[in-house]
Amino acid sequence: MTKITPWEVEGDVDYEKLVKEFGTTLISDKIRKKLDKCHPLIRRGLYFSHRDFDKWLENYEKGKKVSVITGRGPSEKMHIGHLVPFLLALSLQKEFGCEVFIPISDDEKFYVKSDLNFEDSIKFSTDNILDLIALGFDPKKTFIFEDFVYTDIYKYAAQIAKKITYSTAKASFGLKPENNVGWTFYPAMQAAHILFPQFYRGKHLSVVPVGIDQDPFIRLTRDIAVNKDFDFEKPAALHAKFLPSLHGGAKMSSSQGGMIFLTDSPAEVKTKINKYAFSGGQPTIEEHRAKGGNPEIDVSFQYLKFLFEEDDKKLKQIEEDYRSGKLLTGELKKILIEKINVFLKQHQENRKKAKDKLDDFLIQNNSKP
Ligand code: TRP
Repeated sequence: MTKITPWEVEGDVDYEKLVKEFGTTLISDKIRKKLDKCHPLIRRGLYFSHRDFDKWLENYEKGKKVSVITGRGPSEKMHIGHLVPFLLALSLQKEFGCEVFIPISDDEKFYVKSDLNFEDSIKFSTDNILDLIALGFDPKKTFIFEDFVYTDIYKYAAQIAKKITYSTAKASFGLKPENNVGWTFYPAMQAAHILFPQFYRGKHLSVVPVGIDQDPFIRLTRDIAVNKDFDFEKPAALHAKFLPSLHGGAKMSSSQGGMIFLTDSPAEVKTKINKYAFSGGQPTIEEHRAKGGNPEIDVSFQYLKFLFEEDDKKLKQIEEDYRSGKLLTGELKKILIEKINVFLKQHQENRKKAKDKLDDFLIQNNSKP
């Protein structure tokens, strides 16, 4: 059985079926061609579906303002799976020069995670913001805010909440009688996040890169955007599949253990990949040499493909060698371990410096654009 809501993903996910069910559109080759300088996440198809992203590109081409908005629910330290929407946002900022808005939904995680106390939810926000800044966003074009700190967002959320009936929230998000009422209100908050670029900068088209599980928020927000009281553009969306966990499960989630955290040391990365990364190789070297490995199910290969090997030629060589049996699982893992450790070394240095940059990124209450 597959179950998918913004707060729960269980079982195998049939992405084609979701596209039909949700009424989204697969990303066409025509769109992908226009993004051939963007991140492998979109060039190589982890982002697979969209709403109105063709229109976003068209507006950009016509010289109209476009922006990107995507958020983070800070329930824990960040691991590499959490980077997926932000690496795409960063790549869109570099390619199209657009503004990026990043709301941090500390309220969401506080409501939804029964074991997360108030102090910790605020602590994780600050911690996660450092990781986001470390990715290299342009401080002049990037706006980060926390729901518990940038309380101006409440004024927008209230205007939106008034347009959402309880039964819509219940049906869209699968709310259950035992959920606290924070869950019921939170969709208004996330809709306010998604419309924030337009509240702040005026009517224009924003795109939201997110995991496909977040689409109920997009649908709700698109309906509200065109309400006559707002008269905004319906936000566009780019939907990602889930990055597999090290074990090869549908979603890289901490409840399964064995994730690579952005604060991990080189030795920890090495141990985790060697111990946990699900292999598409054969049980013995002899068999592997004879039959070859399967890159499609090999987690190390998937991480190289979507995150760590940008060079198409090198990736293709790795794929061929693995498939033919020339490259062994241990060798493939070694390539990945080195790549991750190079990335994390730089990231951890940037993260230290990010502490002094917080003011350049955080929006303050009462601030004017
Ligand atoms: N709900 C998202 C998550 O749990 C985080 C988030 C908050 C978000 N605000 C957003 C995502 C706005 C996209 C747009 O991951």
